[in-house]
Amino acid sequence: MSNSDSLLSPDIVRVLDTRVIGKKNIFHYREIDSTNARARDLADQGAPEGTLVMAEKQTRGRGSKGRTWFSPSVGGIYASLILRPSLLSKEAPQITFLTAVAAAEAIRGCTQLHVRIKWPNDLLVNGKKLAGILTEIHADREVLRYAVAGIGINVNIPGFPPEISGTATSLLIETGRRFPRADVLRAFLREEENRLIQLRTEGFSPILGRWKELADTIGRPIRVEMADTSFEGWAEDVDPEGVLILRDRKGFFHRILSGDVVLL
Ligand code: BTN
Repeated sequence: MSNSDSLLSPDIVRVLDTRVIGKKNIFHYREIDSTNARARDLADQGAPEGTLVMAEKQTRGRGSKGRTWFSPSVGGIYASLILRPSLLSKEAPQITFLTAVAAAEAIRGCTQLHVRIKWPNDLLVNGKKLAGILTEIHADREVLRYAVAGIGINVNIPGFPPEISGTATSLLIETGRRFPRADVLRAFLREEENRLIQLRTEGFSPILGRWKELADTIGRPIRVEMADTSFEGWAEDVDPEGVLILRDRKGFFHRILSGDVVLL
């Protein structure tokens, strides 16, 4: 492990062992509204696959479902990757699943923590959220033109505001240790690249298989909360498109495309 906690581009480039990701373009900001927003602008201007946008702090970090992502200047990884996979737009959830697997494996490898995935995009440790993924896409009719895979990882964050302190955690809080963010980022990017290669060569099935092994959602009683309704039942499975299949108490099956899962 390196000693510093720098995420400056030269320090990252030096340690990256990827072939495409971060090799051509790395943008690093001391402060930005959202690395996802910046990555989308860059992708619209033609930035190549593998372009990496990072920030020390986000002033309007985006979470899923229009929420904000707590992005203080000390201790977090806020990174967005431009990807241009040959996928249909309806296959874009594959990017989120792939990124969740890559991040879970990377963090497990760096920390030995028992990281689990909660459908579809939360990384949990001891039931609290350690990292989140936000994939945003640009599609042209049915075809995916690009995807921005954004990830926020709470690495050396010592504490959280009261409204999320009951549900959020960090590597520092869980282990009592500080981790060089460059090591965590490098491990994540390596896993992400390997999984992207696997997606191209073997398809989504092995990635979904690994996702299911890492997920703590399937086979458990859950409640899914949506904007104006909620369902309780059994998380039966996740189908090949990433849709959560819930069986309710009457035995009816529901296909859940989006929602917040509460493990009961
Ligand atoms: C979630 O709500 O779980 C998704 C959180 C995604 C946060 C990351 S931080 C880097 C990237 N830029 C953003 O504005 N959001 C994502």
